[in-house]
Amino acid sequence: MDFLGKLGIKHPIIQAPMAGISTPEFVAAASEAGALGSIGAGYLSANDTRDFIRDVKKRTSQPFAVNLFVPEHTEYSEETIQEAYEALQPIGKELGMSKWNAPISKSEFDEQVQVVIEETVKVCSFTFGLPDESTVKRLKENNVFLIGTATTKEEAELAEEIGMDAVVLQGSEAGGHRGSFLGELRLISLDELMKEVLSSVGIPVIAAGGIANKKRKEFLLSLGAEAVQIGTMLIAADESGAHEMYKDAVISAEEGCTEFTTAISGKTARGIGNRLMNELKGKSIAPYPYQNDLTKAVRKTAQEKGNPEYMSLWAGESVHLSRRGTVEEIIKTLL
Ligand SMILES: Cc1cc2nc3c(=O)[nH]c(=O)nc-3n(C[C@H](O)[C@H](O)[C@H](O)COP(=O)(O)O)c2cc1C
Repeated sequence: MDFLGKLGIKHPIIQAPMAGISTPEFVAAASEAGALGSIGAGYLSANDTRDFIRDVKKRTSQPFAVNLFVPEHTEYSEETIQEAYEALQPIGKELGMSKWNAPISKSEFDEQVQVVIEETVKVCSFTFGLPDESTVKRLKENNVFLIGTATTKEEAELAEEIGMDAVVLQGSEAGGHRGSFLGELRLISLDELMKEVLSSVGIPVIAAGGIANKKRKEFLLSLGAEAVQIGTMLIAADESGAHEMYKDAVISAEEGCTEFTTAISGKTARGIGNRLMNELKGKSIAPYPYQNDLTKAVRKTAQEKGNPEYMSLWAGESVHLSRRGTVEEIIKTLL
């Protein structure tokens, strides 16, 4: 069976999992449009992951994926966290916040894997690392199709070795967090990454990063990608859970407005440049996920106050090509 047949989808298009943005309506709309919808379950508890899956199932009988964040065990010191918290205080003050609690988030990865199996989800994708061998075995015994994320040739090779059925190649153009998990962070463009990986890896490759039109999609398929994964293009879709201010920022974005930052979550990510990124430049930043926990209240307050300058506006290099419309209408522009 070919790649699309294995996934049970019509078009070689995957709606990128986007934690915090993908809603059940959004995922179901992508699957109904013949693409593979993906639930960005990275920040969800196992129970919320189950509820989300069930909600999607009510809206579509087409296949969809669940995307999980592979947990990292980052060492941290109270001192680092405190310094990073202090660095956020001027911003908090500007937003009228008094001191805030920043409980450290806990991953329920193993429980989420169990939910994926119990809910007979067909596809499970991963970012920020790869699941261990026993998790891969458990998922495969339950016929779950597994997709890893790689940002270098070495990560793609490891994805194949551990048993992923396919791998997303995330070029440096991509919006949101880098899925990188091996060695020093390297920023490799999608075309370069495709060239390096296609000659060294045998599993199907999915191209991601800055893809915003049919021509680019067709080009990547002609290079040997089995599918493309689209994130930024769908942020401003009607069914997306992005806040209206975020959608406006995406729609009015100009070419070259995105940059990389670690200030918001502690992990390198690409987004539309704003004051939250700028004012934390050179300041103490806690490692991921602790910085993310620290800035959560700031971002929430900014959103409530209608201030996109202190929100996270993750977006890829092609954000200026985004448009409004339904998920189906946007996907159709690629067909
Ligand atoms: C707002 C946003 C959130 C994202 N969240 C996730 C996520 O939860 N899991 C994941 O694997 N990738 C995530 N990504 C990265 C996408 O999977 C993909 O690599 C990227 O969107 C492709 O580049 P593009 O945004 O230029 O289309 C996110 C991207 C964006 C823009």
